[in-house]
Amino acid sequence: MTLIAGNWKMNGLAAEISEIQSIVSGLANYSGADAMICPPALLLPAAVKAAAGSALAIGAQDCHAEVSGAHTGDISAQMIADAGAVAVIVGHSERRSDHGEQDADVLAKAMAAHQAGLNAIICVGETDRQRDAGDALKVVGSQLDGSVPGGNPDNIVIAYEPVWAIGTGRTASEDDIAAMHDHIRNWLASHFGDAGQRVRILYGGSVKPANAAEILSVPNVNGALVGGASLKADDFLAIVAAA
Ligand code: 13P
Repeated sequence: MTLIAGNWKMNGLAAEISEIQSIVSGLANYSGADAMICPPALLLPAAVKAAAGSALAIGAQDCHAEVSGAHTGDISAQMIADAGAVAVIVGHSERRSDHGEQDADVLAKAMAAHQAGLNAIICVGETDRQRDAGDALKVVGSQLDGSVPGGNPDNIVIAYEPVWAIGTGRTASEDDIAAMHDHIRNWLASHFGDAGQRVRILYGGSVKPANAAEILSVPNVNGALVGGASLKADDFLAIVAAA
């Protein structure tokens, strides 16, 4: 089933749990897609409580690769699972650029997520400079090589987010999305065989109610990772409705 996941990034105070409550009520009208919200870590327990018993899953935005220890300010995958979340985003381009995360770090985080029983939403995507140089497929292929754990892929989701499309209002063309998602699908099939066909590949980058149906109809687009438009229940639900 299509997955619409919302990444709230560093947005949301306690008052915004009301948006989660509205999403929970609104989701009762749609059964065509799985829905997830990834709020800031401090809101995880309240979000899990608001979504309890509903179709809305709650995920986190990052985890540390270690289970516990002397890592001031960090949060482990086990803590995220303990809070009741079911997934964690790893390797978002903002983590890669703001915190210098490399593919090996992302791989370690994805493995930590799996060890804690969480699904790992592994992000990949090229910069505009890399796309202009004709290197987009190569860059994403190498990110997949370095960031995706081997073994059973049933607990991974890949999110393709071209860096230049994030928060800019620009989206990749349907042809470019189709070519990249086909490339990712081939990579998954060559690494995981039939199981690789089942892995969901999300598109992310300025997905909004107005463009969601078009993007979600592209072959091998199995959902969306939504930033800004996931902050308001009405916009998020309109994207779920478009799936
Ligand atoms: P926007 O939808 O705000 O462009 O963000 C996309 C994103 O980075 C989701 O992880």
